[in-house]
Amino acid sequence: MTKHLISVADLEGRLEQLIDRAIEMKRAFKAGDAPRLLDGRALAMIFEKPSTRTRVSFEVAMFQLGGHGLFLSPKDLQMGRGETVEDTARVLSRFVDAIMYRAFSNEVMRQLAGAATVPVINALDDLEHPCQIVADLMTMKEHFGTLKGLNVAYVGDGNNVANSLALGCAMVGARLLLANPPGYDMDRQVLERAREFAAGTGTAIETGRDPAWAAGGADVVYTDVWTSMGDESEEGDREAIFKPYQVNEELMHKAASGAVFMHCLPAHRGLEVTDGVVDADYSIVLDQAENRLHAQKMILVDLIIG
Ligand code: CP
Ligand code: NVA
Repeated sequence: MTKHLISVADLEGRLEQLIDRAIEMKRAFKAGDAPRLLDGRALAMIFEKPSTRTRVSFEVAMFQLGGHGLFLSPKDLQMGRGETVEDTARVLSRFVDAIMYRAFSNEVMRQLAGAATVPVINALDDLEHPCQIVADLMTMKEHFGTLKGLNVAYVGDGNNVANSLALGCAMVGARLLLANPPGYDMDRQVLERAREFAAGTGTAIETGRDPAWAAGGADVVYTDVWTSMGDESEEGDREAIFKPYQVNEELMHKAASGAVFMHCLPAHRGLEVTDGVVDADYSIVLDQAENRLHAQKMILVDLIIG
């Protein structure tokens, strides 16, 4: 059966091993060892939404592994003129070795994966952002040396990043306290799935309303934008509702000594995070961004050649 990465949960049983291999591959790459593990392979990259990190990191990952990434915008594809997502998947599967897809809808993501005969990688949809969370957990492991027992706080919108973070933390045994305003909860089914994983790894995924409760004693304080791509029409309302959820210096003071700040980026400075926090010595957002490249190399190798 073709392996896909649609949800972090698809990495059940191999998430932390994949992270360890990515850390090792990054070390080797920096020491000048760059094996062309995907020599002659091709990755189709369909973007329905803008991207800086995801596009560049996947394209460079394919290049550094000896393969090629093709950027495809729906406005240039026949998909944009009514060719079905299933037909697009079937045809692309005859040309390329994997398909990376940034989509508006998780349902359409699953339709594409259902019809593809090559691995499909979710590069963000309305439900999850699994590649981001693999890179984030890799960054936490590099920084703290371990994932099990880490205390992670997520403050903000219960969005795609929050959903994937909850699954990822639960799968590696990190505790997550997630604070968000009423009406902006993470996905209920994802939360249940995360709690099943948490029961197996001996940790807890808790949700609440108070940012200070979540950040208190945390090793990692994580936030994301208040208005995700696709939610722009709600931007004004969201800015008012989320104001108490800003990650600022006062909130970071409640975290454990040695705590780090994380954000998947792009950051909206002055909204979900202050300049003082995102630019602080304890902010590891650029390591996170860099690790998209290294984590995705391992994801590509794992899915394409096993
Ligand atoms: N974090 C992330 O996915 O960034 P881009 O939207 O720039 O790809
Ligand atoms: N939650 C954000 C993440 C961007 C990388 C969005 O979906 O826009």
